[in-house]
Amino acid sequence: MNLKFHPVADKSELSNNDQLHVSLDEEEILICRENEDYYAISYYCSHATLALEGGYIYNSKIICPYHGAEFCLKTGQALTAPANEEIKKYPLSIEGTTISIGVEQV
Ligand code: FES
Repeated sequence: MNLKFHPVADKSELSNNDQLHVSLDEEEILICRENEDYYAISYYCSHATLALEGGYIYNSKIICPYHGAEFCLKTGQALTAPANEEIKKYPLSIEGTTISIGVEQV
């Protein structure tokens, strides 16, 4: 398998602490911005598969808006209950103002 990067958004689409839902190769992904850092994680929480979109972002973490589990935006690690499984984290690159996400190609 190899990683292929796909352009999915422009930086201008996200203001600070904003999020953007993108669908890519049947993967549902949430792009999160905190200051000048951008992250790409699973759109869905690992606890009850509800959307992380709208979760509060702080200190490179996102809080699930449903039951309050926190996830590390850098690694996808579940940091607090009720989630105990990590969420998927995607490689993200920025060239100029274009945000691209890497997905594995079979
Ligand atoms: S769905 Fe996210 S903590 Fe329950």
